[in-house]
Amino acid sequence: MDASEVDALRIAALAAFSAATDSGDLEQARIDHLGRRSPLALAQKQLGGLTDEERRRVGALLNELKTAITEAFDARHLELGSVELSQRLASERLDLTGPARRIRPGRPHLLTQVEAEIVDVFLGMGFSVAEGPEVESGRFNFDLLNIPPDHPARGTMDTIYVDEDADIVLRTHTSPVQVRTMLAQQPPIAVVCPGRVYRADAVDATHSPVFTQVEGLLVAEGITMAHLRGTLLAFAKALFGDDREVRLRPSFFPFTEPSAEVDVSFESASGWLEILGSGMVDPAVLAGCGIDPERYSGFAFGIGVERVAMLRHGVADIRDLYDADARFLAAF
Ligand code: DAH
Repeated sequence: MDASEVDALRIAALAAFSAATDSGDLEQARIDHLGRRSPLALAQKQLGGLTDEERRRVGALLNELKTAITEAFDARHLELGSVELSQRLASERLDLTGPARRIRPGRPHLLTQVEAEIVDVFLGMGFSVAEGPEVESGRFNFDLLNIPPDHPARGTMDTIYVDEDADIVLRTHTSPVQVRTMLAQQPPIAVVCPGRVYRADAVDATHSPVFTQVEGLLVAEGITMAHLRGTLLAFAKALFGDDREVRLRPSFFPFTEPSAEVDVSFESASGWLEILGSGMVDPAVLAGCGIDPERYSGFAFGIGVERVAMLRHGVADIRDLYDADARFLAAF
């Protein structure tokens, strides 16, 4: 093999590389000119049959040839790579000025939003959140809250029993979480208890057998009704606007003494709307939960989340909150 033959191989390889217009072609050209069956590889295999002197001369020529072809290949490879990249970028280009597809993001349900807002107001005042089971014993749901065994609220007309013999109920309020908290911890206690509660009520515009409460409990030394009033006034302003007043009306709950219904001022016809029940925790309840009523006093309240949501957003029928009608849900 002489220099002109080597030159012919080089020229053929370079021509094939520059003729290749994509990486597939180029790979084929590499196999043809640098692969195991290329003229170059065959010539290298035949070196062994040559004389020492010839082998050195031809070997050097072939090495140079291989370097030249490899360099040419590398250069073309880079070149085609960048051409192909810019073609791909051009073809995958997004037209950001085109019309967008409308995405309707999900969001928390109105009740979830209002519950979170209520809880937030109390977190801001230093309360923490306590949660408990929805299937509850009569002892926590009733007895320790001073609701005696013959109280009408315990009847099956009002309470949904899971197991009547074992006195297991679906909790009728989140007050048992207050009980659980007091049994577990000494004052100072400041908790809010959000969650679902259940009553054997028929469904109508203002009643649902499942609804949502946020109850609150504060027990410490020297707590009076003034603290209760101030706390609930702050709550009413945060949820309904700064120009609100609260009014406490005497009421009765077995677990508080005295008890009060709390009204918030509205510009509506009557001027006042009832939003929650509250009171000073009955000393018997404190004592039953292991807290010394001579030393500590406390207040408690129970907020109906549905009622707050309905008042604030002008929802007339409680069923709208549970119907999952997308048109209603999208409004909030
Ligand atoms: N548990 C009451 C209910 O479900 C609401 C309530 C009233 C809770 C007064 C309280 C309270 O903690 O002090 O109707």
